[in-house]
Amino acid sequence: MLSQNRRSFFRQTGLLLGGWSLTNWIDPMTQSRLNDLFHQYKEVAEEDIATDESFWREIREAYTVNPGLLNLNSGGVSPSAEIVQNALDRYNRMSNEGPSYYMWRVLDQGREPLREKLAALAGCSKEEIAINRNATEAINTIIFGLNLQKGDEVVLSKMDYPNMIHAWKQREKRDGIKLVWVDIPIPCNNADELVALFSNAFSNKTKIVHLTHVINWNGQVLPVRRIADIAKARNIEVLVDAAHSFGQLEYKISELNCDYLGTSLHKWMCGPLGSGMLFIRKEKISGIWPLLSADKPESDDIRKFENLGTRSFPTEQAIHVALDFHNRIGTNRKRARLLFLRNYWINRVQDFNGVNILSPSNPELSCALGGVIVEGKTPQQLESFLLDKHKIHTVAIEWESLKCVRITPNVFTLTSDLDRLVNGIKAFSEQK
Ligand SMILES: Cc1ncc(COP(=O)(O)O)c(C=O)c1O
Repeated sequence: MLSQNRRSFFRQTGLLLGGWSLTNWIDPMTQSRLNDLFHQYKEVAEEDIATDESFWREIREAYTVNPGLLNLNSGGVSPSAEIVQNALDRYNRMSNEGPSYYMWRVLDQGREPLREKLAALAGCSKEEIAINRNATEAINTIIFGLNLQKGDEVVLSKMDYPNMIHAWKQREKRDGIKLVWVDIPIPCNNADELVALFSNAFSNKTKIVHLTHVINWNGQVLPVRRIADIAKARNIEVLVDAAHSFGQLEYKISELNCDYLGTSLHKWMCGPLGSGMLFIRKEKISGIWPLLSADKPESDDIRKFENLGTRSFPTEQAIHVALDFHNRIGTNRKRARLLFLRNYWINRVQDFNGVNILSPSNPELSCALGGVIVEGKTPQQLESFLLDKHKIHTVAIEWESLKCVRITPNVFTLTSDLDRLVNGIKAFSEQK
C-alpha cells in the first residue's frame, strides 16, 4: 500500500504509474511523436540507429538546442531535455507556493522511488545509492570519509579530476598518507599497458586505488574492471570516478567490482544541473564517515550521506524525468551513436595538414570526448577561432603534458553539425 504522503506526491507531481501518459510537463504532440519514434525503431539494431539521422533529429527536437551556437562541450556538462526543464520549473513553482510544505512533505516523498530507479539503472541495491549534487560531492565524501593512517598508500593518476586530486592532497597534508602517482600515456590504445601501470604501482601498503573511468581531458577510457580485479585480489579498495561513464558507457556497477563510485547526473544522464549520485557497496557504508553531520555517522544506512541541509528538491525530483527519457533512448543506443559521431569528425579531420588527434582510436578505450590539436598553434587559438568564426563552442585543454581542444558531441548533435566543425578545423589548419 502506498502511504498517504507518497500518494500525495505521485498525484501532485504526475508520476502515478510512472507512465509517460500522465507526465503533464510533456505536451501531447511531443509525447505522441516520441512514442511513435521509439515504437518504430523498437526492432532496429543499435548500430543501424547510430547512423540514422532521422532518429536523432527527433531526439534533438526534445532538447532546446540553440540555433545560433553549436555546443560541442558536453564534456563539461550536458543540457537537459525540455521535459526535464519543464518538470524542474513546475516543481520549483510548486515549491515556492509553500517551500516547507511542498519540498519537505510532498516532493521529498519522491526520494525513495528515485533511489529505486537509479539503482535499477546502476545495477545495485537501492540501499547502496545516495542522491546528492554532483560527482565532486560524491567522491569527496569517500576521500574524506575513509579511515586512513599515516603511511597508507593511495594509487591515483595525474589525469584524475582536480577536485579529487586536491582532496587527496589535503589528506596527504593532514594525515600523512602517501600518494602514488601513475603516469598514463596520452593517448593509450593498449588496455594491457594501462592495467600493468596501475598494478605495478600497488604495494603492501596500498589501501585504495582511485580510477577515473573516462578521463575528462581527452576521453581516454580505463579498463576499470581489470584493474579492480587485481586490486581486490590484493585487498585494495576501488574508488571509481564515473562522472563521464555513467549514462555514456554500458555497464552495471556490479560489473566493475568496485567499492565506491561517484557520478554527476548532469553529464551523460542529462539530468538537471546540480544532480549527482554516490554508490557504496553495502558492507562498506558503516566504515565511511559522512562529509556532513549525521545523527548516526557510523550507521550502515546510505541515507546518512544525504544530510545536505536545504537544497533544491525540484532538482532532485526532476531527475526522475531525465532517467525515464534516458531509459527510453537506452544506454546501448547512446553509446553506439556517440562513438559513431566521434569517429565521424575524427576520420574527416585527421589527415588535414598538421592536425593531431590526442584521444585513443581503440573503440573499447574511447568515447564521445575527443581531443584535437593543430601543430604550431595553441589550443586557445583553435578554440577561439572555432567560436569567433564558426560559432562553435568547444574547450581548450592544457593539463599536465596534454594540450588539445576537446570536442564532445551529444545525442542532440547531428552529422551536419560535425560537418560545420570539420570545415572550421580545416580552415584553421590552412591559416598561414
Ligand atoms: C572526471 C570528472 N570527475 C569529476 C568531475 C566533477 O563533476 P562535478 O563538477 O559535476 O562535480 C568532472 C567534471 O567535469 C569530471 O570530468
